[in-house]
Amino acid sequence: MALRVPGRAGPPQARRARRLLFAFTLSLSCTYLCYSLLRCCDGRGRGRLLRAPRGPRAAVPPAPPEPRPCAPPGPPPRAPAPRPAASSLSGSPKPGTKRLPQALIVGVKKGGTRAVLEFIRVHPDVRALGTEPHFFDRNYGRGLDWYRSLMPRTLESQITLEKTPSYFVTQEAPRRIFNMSRDTKLIVVVRNPVTRAISDYTQTLSKKPDIPTFEGLSFRNRTLGLVDVSWNAIRIGLYALHLEGWLRYFPRAQIHFVSGERLITDPAGEMGRVQDFLGIRRFLTDKHFYFNKTKGFPCLRRTEASLLPRCLGKSKGRAHVQIDPEVIDQLREFYRPHNIKFYETVGQDFRWE
Ligand SMILES: *[C@@H]1O[C@H](CO)[C@@H](O)[C@H](O)[C@H]1NC(C)=O
Ligand SMILES: *[C@@H]1O[C@H](CO)[C@@H](O)[C@H](O)[C@H]1NC(C)=O
Ligand SMILES: *[C@@H]1O[C@H](CO)[C@@H](O)[C@H](O)[C@H]1NC(C)=O
Repeated sequence: MALRVPGRAGPPQARRARRLLFAFTLSLSCTYLCYSLLRCCDGRGRGRLLRAPRGPRAAVPPAPPEPRPCAPPGPPPRAPAPRPAASSLSGSPKPGTKRLPQALIVGVKKGGTRAVLEFIRVHPDVRALGTEPHFFDRNYGRGLDWYRSLMPRTLESQITLEKTPSYFVTQEAPRRIFNMSRDTKLIVVVRNPVTRAISDYTQTLSKKPDIPTFEGLSFRNRTLGLVDVSWNAIRIGLYALHLEGWLRYFPRAQIHFVSGERLITDPAGEMGRVQDFLGIRRFLTDKHFYFNKTKGFPCLRRTEASLLPRCLGKSKGRAHVQIDPEVIDQLREFYRPHNIKFYETVGQDFRWE
């Protein structure tokens, strides 16, 4: 602030001026507080009282309409109307600065990335973009300034985060991210590649009911056990292969792997490790989660700061299509050596066999 308040009381006039100034500042703060509260309420239960207004989610064009955790079923909510500039309300600029992300959730699709993002953004030291900007794959040509402009404002102490699961399988992504900052922390949520493929297929099927069967797409020749690795749903699961590209740029310790399976059975434990990796205090603990048996998925408990309990959207944790167990066995066999190589590289056994 431009106002210096001297340590000692000055002449009566100066004191009066200061009192006026104090009252004025107080009223500004109140205005801002009310404004923040209003923003929180229209943030669909994601209220974080006394925190800066959320970033301009609506400004991100290319993100797929993944449902937000407490979005009602049905069409995604329309983008909110542009907010009036804060300056017209309070005369002071909005707090915080837009920064390039210091951490990214880079993958994998259908691994549980949305859950990790929604869980970690409960942390007061994390601000995350709600949509997927696809900067390092589809939108790289728009430049870093464009990318930065999408980010939520953060205070010095806060980490900026975004997630785009397709980065993990994008060949150029490691180099581009390294070029942004070699210190970028990378988070990869992985899951049994067979389950992942089925989940991926289930999602595609829900949009395009006419696609061939899972078996038909998985094999080039099923009798010969020839798996079609050019099919994306299969290819994404070759984690060891994709990881190689990242390790050319980033040391192993700069990539954190979250187990998609343990995220469901022990969200607090898994999120504890994510917080340690990000170098932030363990704010998220057991008391933030409860298990919804109907959904078979952990949800965020209601707290003073968020008035509604939050579960992931309807499409999350949806029932998978039934696949012939023999096909599953064949794919499991196919992935086994890749999985083992992945465990060795990462130094962690995910127990997918
Ligand atoms: C690296 O980033 C800079 C901007 O920081 C940009 O000018 C340059 O083209 C980028 N190089 C590559 C190879 O992406
Ligand atoms: C699969 O391989 C078997 C054995 O070589 C062959 O007889 C069959 O025609 C092949 N099927 C397809 C669809 O290529
Ligand atoms: C659990 O999930 C079901 C299905 O999504 C939902 O209808 C129900 O409200 C949830 N219950 C709680 C306590 O969150």
